[in-house]
Amino acid sequence: MMQDPVRVGLLGCGNVGSALVRLVDEHADRITARAGVGIEITRVAVRDVTRHRDVKLAPDRFTDDPSAIVHDHDVDVVVEVMGGVDPSRALITEALEAGKPVVTANKELIARHGPELFGVAAKAGVDLLFEASVAGGIPLLRPLRESLAGDRIHRVTGIVNGTTNYILTRMAEGGASFADALADAQRLGYAEADPTADVEGYDAAAKAAIIATVAFGARVRLEDVHTEGITGLTDDDVESAKLLGYVVKLVAVAEEIDGDIAVRVHPAMVPLHHPLAAVRDSFNAVFIEGEAVGELMLYGRGAGGGPSAAAVLGDLVDAVRNLVSGGKGATIGELVDRPVRPLHKLESQFYLLIEVADRPGVLAAIAGEFGRHGVSIQSMEQRGLGAGARLIFVTHRAREGDLAATVEALRSVEPVHRVGSVLRVMGDVG
Ligand code: NDP
Ligand code: HSE
Repeated sequence: MMQDPVRVGLLGCGNVGSALVRLVDEHADRITARAGVGIEITRVAVRDVTRHRDVKLAPDRFTDDPSAIVHDHDVDVVVEVMGGVDPSRALITEALEAGKPVVTANKELIARHGPELFGVAAKAGVDLLFEASVAGGIPLLRPLRESLAGDRIHRVTGIVNGTTNYILTRMAEGGASFADALADAQRLGYAEADPTADVEGYDAAAKAAIIATVAFGARVRLEDVHTEGITGLTDDDVESAKLLGYVVKLVAVAEEIDGDIAVRVHPAMVPLHHPLAAVRDSFNAVFIEGEAVGELMLYGRGAGGGPSAAAVLGDLVDAVRNLVSGGKGATIGELVDRPVRPLHKLESQFYLLIEVADRPGVLAAIAGEFGRHGVSIQSMEQRGLGAGARLIFVTHRAREGDLAATVEALRSVEPVHRVGSVLRVMGDVG
């Protein structure tokens, strides 16, 4: 029996929202076959209703009042692609409480208020789906939640910000300046409305918190994520990485260590033969290490309207199918509190670039500080001569706390002019 189409209220019609409208239009037959019923976008909220948009929707479907859509009895499902915490948080809460399934791409909101919203959705017995919030078009959260539900995940390491990966690729391969590469990323629709969120690592941190929440079933807060961005990186670091057989990437790492959870985002030297080293431009990839599954990598477009809209649409089809069948999709389940291991207790290899006086005895003085703090040196090489002399060290695995103490001490060593970048070096796999 044919049913009337499910009526979707769309909050936001920017990069992701407008791509979703086009997909729903172009793939109508396939969507109906998969969802079991047609989908129609009946109302759309935007800030500026007068702006021209490349979508086939009549002007009378647009409003600048998202609340009117959430409370409209003729809207069955709400899709939120406006971004930001307010008013999205209240709107999604009200939609769920009204018994309407919600699909969102809003990582900031889920990272900050996910557990609260999951509770509202569970109480109302409706879906809250957010696949597009992490790694754009890559199916990641559903595989973690469903396909790997029975396995024990040890670690998830991801390149989950398209903007920074695009910038780093352009700097490493094309010699572009940071500013030019960022401007292109903004033009291509990868960057957040405020690109500080991308380049300072906040966007990746939100995604890391969501990954950790889903992978470990734990209540992981955004403030639990140690976050460093890419704004402190120099051309020298990018060049040194090349010479040493690495490539610099902004990575998000969520891992379980003896029952503790550790989540962090920072630039890292990735060995060229690691699968993540090959992830270029705005592509994202997530490398999963699980007890039974072993090593697994998911790769694809992590940013941009089309890929993200494909993930939103997948969730939408799921939500509509559940709505029609009277069921509910797989949920995240009961979240538990787990101890968060502080950064200073974590271990890594490190790369350090130190500007020094170019004269006898300097190396011994510096090496002495490493030794005094229990940090073992794996390799050292000098770049430049005279006033331009820099020493580049790669350490063996050391505690973050010991490395920080070494750096502090090095700042007082007379021939050290400046301790430049300190980057983690990712280990090999396999
Ligand atoms: P855009 O800035 O392109 O679009 C936002 C849309 O929301 C615009 O249409 C805007 O209206 C509307 N809007 C914003 N605030 C309000 C408000 N208070 N009332 C009514 N309408 C409002 O953002 P994106 O499409 O790039 O991103 C949307 C969401 O998806 C964000 O949460 C983002 O983090 C997430 N996301 C984005 C990805 C990407 O690659 N772009 C990838 C994955 C997730 P108007 O057009 O009039 O300004
Ligand atoms: N600004 C984000 C990025 C969009 O560059 O990855 C996708 O979440």
